[in-house]
Amino acid sequence: MKGSSHPRNDRSLNGSGNLSILDVIDRVDASRRRFVQGGIGASALGAAGGLTLGGFVGTVQAAPVPPAPGFAGFGFANVPPSLAPVADRVTVPAGYSAKLLVAWGDPIMPGGVPFSGSATETAAQQARSYGAHTDGMHFFPFTVGGVPSSERGVLCANNEYTQEEILHPDGLVGSTGYTLDKCRKSQAAHGVSITELRRIAGKWTVVKSSPLGRRLTANTPMVVSGPAAGHALMQTVEFSITDTASTATGNTTQGRSCQGTANNCANGITPWGTYLTCEENWNGYFGSTDNSVPPTSTETGKLYNRYGVTASGFGYRWHTVDPRWDLKVNPNEPNLFGWVVEVDPFNPSSPPVKRTALGRFKHESAQYVVDKDNHLAFYLGDDERNEYIYKFVCAGKFNPNNRAANRNLLDSGTLYVARFDSNLTGQWIPLLPGTPGLDGKALRDNPNFSGANDAEVLAKILIKTRMAADAVGATMMDRPEWTGARPRIGGFDHIEVYCTLTNNNRRGGTTANAADGSTGAGSARPPVDAANPRANNLYGHIIRWREAGKSVTATSFSWNLFVQNGDTLTGKTALPTNDFKGNIVDDPNGSADYGAPDGLWFDPFGRLWVQTDQAGDALGDWVNIGANSMVCADPNTGMTRRFLTGPRNCEVTGVTMTPDGKTMFVGIQHPGEDAVAANPTEFSNWPQGQWTTAADGVTPLPGGRPRSGVVVITKDDGGLIGS
Ligand code: FEO
Ligand code: CA
Ligand code: CA
Repeated sequence: MKGSSHPRNDRSLNGSGNLSILDVIDRVDASRRRFVQGGIGASALGAAGGLTLGGFVGTVQAAPVPPAPGFAGFGFANVPPSLAPVADRVTVPAGYSAKLLVAWGDPIMPGGVPFSGSATETAAQQARSYGAHTDGMHFFPFTVGGVPSSERGVLCANNEYTQEEILHPDGLVGSTGYTLDKCRKSQAAHGVSITELRRIAGKWTVVKSSPLGRRLTANTPMVVSGPAAGHALMQTVEFSITDTASTATGNTTQGRSCQGTANNCANGITPWGTYLTCEENWNGYFGSTDNSVPPTSTETGKLYNRYGVTASGFGYRWHTVDPRWDLKVNPNEPNLFGWVVEVDPFNPSSPPVKRTALGRFKHESAQYVVDKDNHLAFYLGDDERNEYIYKFVCAGKFNPNNRAANRNLLDSGTLYVARFDSNLTGQWIPLLPGTPGLDGKALRDNPNFSGANDAEVLAKILIKTRMAADAVGATMMDRPEWTGARPRIGGFDHIEVYCTLTNNNRRGGTTANAADGSTGAGSARPPVDAANPRANNLYGHIIRWREAGKSVTATSFSWNLFVQNGDTLTGKTALPTNDFKGNIVDDPNGSADYGAPDGLWFDPFGRLWVQTDQAGDALGDWVNIGANSMVCADPNTGMTRRFLTGPRNCEVTGVTMTPDGKTMFVGIQHPGEDAVAANPTEFSNWPQGQWTTAADGVTPLPGGRPRSGVVVITKDDGGLIGS
């Protein structure tokens, strides 16, 4: 995620830093590709009959999973890097076809209107159309003839943020200043889009007036559940929200309901067939009309400081016309954001539920794993420099035979935070009232979490998750983005989870997040360590771990680095811990370089797909790597090949497939970002610059401004994607 209203995905070189623990680095370098507990083992992925879909389709749709061929390496040729000047198009390998499925502004439910191309649509029309800045997504198949369909289903997709210069004809303020109409349209472009899809005569099409079509926005009523629900910090000023005003009712909420979701970045699913949308940089939508926030000596001021809530926000200005977002008026409202939200994709009237048991931070994604005993865990990253990796283990077991029994599994369990030790093992530290902090005192005796009883202590731990992780000495990471679990197929039976660490230009200093939770968001400059071994980690890396005992309830794990990203051809001056070249395995060497890994997903056939979020102009640090891309990697060998390159100034994010593996959906976010309102196509005119119609062959693609959208990819011979 980048953009003028958002923090940059940092890409500048910062040569300062303390390089004091090189001994640790040496050890990691020697063994980075091996787990402490032995080699990777299985090489024959996906032997016939060994395939599972993680339980999802089989349990939710009560349908057999079709057999699939095994992992047969890469059947496609490496796509060359898209060097500057970046071609304004999506490129896929020869033998594959890419078309536009759906883009910002396309109608997806009854009452929607076709996109004009000029952004003249109203807020109400936006609320019936595909949202802006598409991000994480999942295809939920219909069951047809007892089998999960690969031709019909709904696509749940996040709409992370907006660029106001593209969203409105005259940009953020235009000639009439910032208005509630603009605010409402911006709020309506955020959230989640639920879109019914069909493949008719081989062509994918959006069912434009589907009764399953749905938009969740920054104003959609939602339920708050779990241990933090109802706590005083979750109680806010109640507002009546209409098209023309947000009016305080004079009441205070009970902290068990709220309005809206925002900055929905990556996603997850549950094994009972619901969608999880993760709230990431929600802090930036808040601001203060008196240009001040409480001092850090207060509980609220300290919380704002730790999560980056400021008087000016990211510049959206929602708070100037909608007092719900004004910290001066409604200081607890930020506490209702930063959660994982569960959505039923097939029930448009069901309220989304914010599941507080999974903690509050800048959630990137939520990858589930069900182990052999039906214990269930979700792996979670907090995407900011120097934040942490978490897992939530449900108290109850997953019941594969009774969907209703799983309904509230996300409300009780234990949230853990990861500590990566230099001997390539690690610990999951429970964030519970009795857990001792680095000071030897239980969290319940830490003033940040003090409460009348342990139930209140737990509520505060969850609302202030970052501070609890600070207190127990979790490992500060280089911006945890997506998590992904390797399928247990073809004889591979470890619980092995990967996480992209996209970059950290503050790595290599001497300061750490303070154990008392007083550190400002992203401000520390931690030393290099075993799990984050490079100062000024410009290009990022991918870490992976295996749970002890092949159980998601394990409190220890082994880990290593799957890859350190870099530019094989770089002319940068090497640092003692960072030559900026990385160790990507590709053939010929350097042919599939990529950096700033963000999206990460295993398909059911064992292929690892990684998407990047770097500068999209292929200049500066990216001059050899080229534009943003999606690569495919073999988890056994690390061998990597570039599968897709994106248009100008975009980020590639979001990937899912039909159950048969023969259709892939890939998100292209913010093509042409940073254009000014007077010249929206300054950098990009995608997708209409690449195609004249959408994948259905009928829907025109009006020009006028670039649009984030989802691409549908098929193999021309009808085969598996990646084969
Ligand atoms: Fe929205 Fe961390 O990417
Ligand atoms: Ca990102
Ligand atoms: Ca992301």
